[in-house]
Amino acid sequence: MVTTNNFDKLRELNQRAEAGGGEQRARRQHEQGKLLARERLDILLDNGSFVEMDRLRTHGCTDFEMEQQKFLGDAVVTGYGAIDGRLVYVYSQDFTVFGGSLSGVVADKICKVMDLAMKNGAPIIGINDSGGARIQEGVMSLAGYGEIFQRNVMASGVVPQISAIMGPCAGGAVYSPAITDFIFMVKTNSYMFITGPEVIKAVTHEEVTKEELGGAETHSAKSGCSHFTANTEKDCLLMIRELMSFLPSNNQEDPPFHATDDDPLRRDRRLRGLVPDNPNRPYDMKELIAAVVDEGYFYEVQPEYAPNVLVGFSRLGGRPVGVVANQPASLAGCLDINASVKAARFIRFCDCFNIPVVTFVDVPGFLPGTGQEYDGIIRHGAKLLYAYAEATVPKVTVVTRKAYGGGYIVMSSKHLRGDVNLAYPTGEIAVMGPEGAISIVFREALQKADNPAKARDEMVEHYRQTFANPFKAAESGYIDAVIYPEDTRPTLIRSLEMLKNKREQNPPKKHGNIPL
Ligand code: HXC
Repeated sequence: MVTTNNFDKLRELNQRAEAGGGEQRARRQHEQGKLLARERLDILLDNGSFVEMDRLRTHGCTDFEMEQQKFLGDAVVTGYGAIDGRLVYVYSQDFTVFGGSLSGVVADKICKVMDLAMKNGAPIIGINDSGGARIQEGVMSLAGYGEIFQRNVMASGVVPQISAIMGPCAGGAVYSPAITDFIFMVKTNSYMFITGPEVIKAVTHEEVTKEELGGAETHSAKSGCSHFTANTEKDCLLMIRELMSFLPSNNQEDPPFHATDDDPLRRDRRLRGLVPDNPNRPYDMKELIAAVVDEGYFYEVQPEYAPNVLVGFSRLGGRPVGVVANQPASLAGCLDINASVKAARFIRFCDCFNIPVVTFVDVPGFLPGTGQEYDGIIRHGAKLLYAYAEATVPKVTVVTRKAYGGGYIVMSSKHLRGDVNLAYPTGEIAVMGPEGAISIVFREALQKADNPAKARDEMVEHYRQTFANPFKAAESGYIDAVIYPEDTRPTLIRSLEMLKNKREQNPPKKHGNIPL
């Protein structure tokens, strides 16, 4: 009976597809501390929700006797499933098949789920573990990368795109994760680079290990290319699930509401003493954030990179918000190139996906120095300004202490369409700090003074009285209200509730020209 034979055949084909590159290669993968492509999807997705597509597809290459080496599904497992009941599209590269390398068919399979993600408005999550372009397929493989990159760009700002790097990701292949919104890496076995150690040695005689060149630590702390580092693959997949809980499925939706037992009217007296009286003393802005947001939970993005600015997700009254905050405990909270770029990209992500931005400001200004100037702080700092200025999501700002000069304007000020701008009584809003201001404005008077040190102290004090407070800004309406620190949480929640239906549009244009 043909039908029975076909049933048997299907069972056999399914078994072959699930076996990937075979037992030996699967064992090797496990010995290296890596999970298999399907095992990863099992952890990532809700139990039993994964639906596989194209599991019987095979590559079409006939060069290098490749027709004798066919694996069902080729080197990627693709399909869809759910995270907390919400639809996501996934692909998981299978290193046991030709080292997870990208053939024309592998690219086709990935593009198919990307197209579905776009049509159906659901996130796409890619798990990368690949030796790069399938060498035997030459330009077919390169074309495949091009097709994926094009889709990454079209999907940018339409559906969230997440990349997990769980093995090699080398050469031009890195540009797909680079375009996606967030990159997760695992402490071991996870690396990304444009050219590997061998090529570097041949070209520049520089010796470097894979880890040093493109491991998780390098990309989380030095290059800023990755956003999250996990200790294990399992942790990494669970972290992705958690990130998804803050994100809408697409740019037409609001982010998901999560009921909370944390009282929206909760006032926290600890906040009163958190900002030190001495303006030069640091404090930990993370403590302030934790005291304000639901259950004190801050899902920090890029914690190891540019720690002078904090970015991440929290909830206020059950609604996700993007938090951006200067960190006085690092570089006195100065903005530098890395901090500007880090915060700008995060703000743009929030704006794409309707996530309100809450900004805590304590910034003495942009970091001075030739290093910063030569590396283009003008261009990079402008990115942050641009990101805030173009953002149309609700923007609520709290000045906790210093808001000096360009830093004041850039950090979601009223002038960049801040919707609600608040300040603590400890807020200091001025063109610059007292010491610098006095040296410039009263240089001559100081030179002529009988006792220059005393004169300087008096002038600093006078400047402080006049400018180092939030009241002048409140008189001008640039600060909507000066609040007691303990009222921060209820005030923010009320503000966001008031702004919940905010609709604002930028002028029609093809796209702006952010200073890249
Ligand atoms: C075809 C590949 C492959 C590739 C690995 N394999 N990379 N097959 N094309 N690119 C196969 C191997 O032949 C081997 O097959 C299996 O995958 C596992 O590889 P191993 O070398 O045994 O594994 P390991 O020692 O863990 O080393 C992994 C590796 C190494 C570091 C990724 O394989 C490697 O360096 N591969 C080449 C990487 C590379 O240069 N790719 C091109 C980059 S340029 P068997 O049958 O033994 O299991 C690029 C351009 C993209 O990608 C441009 C986009 C614009």
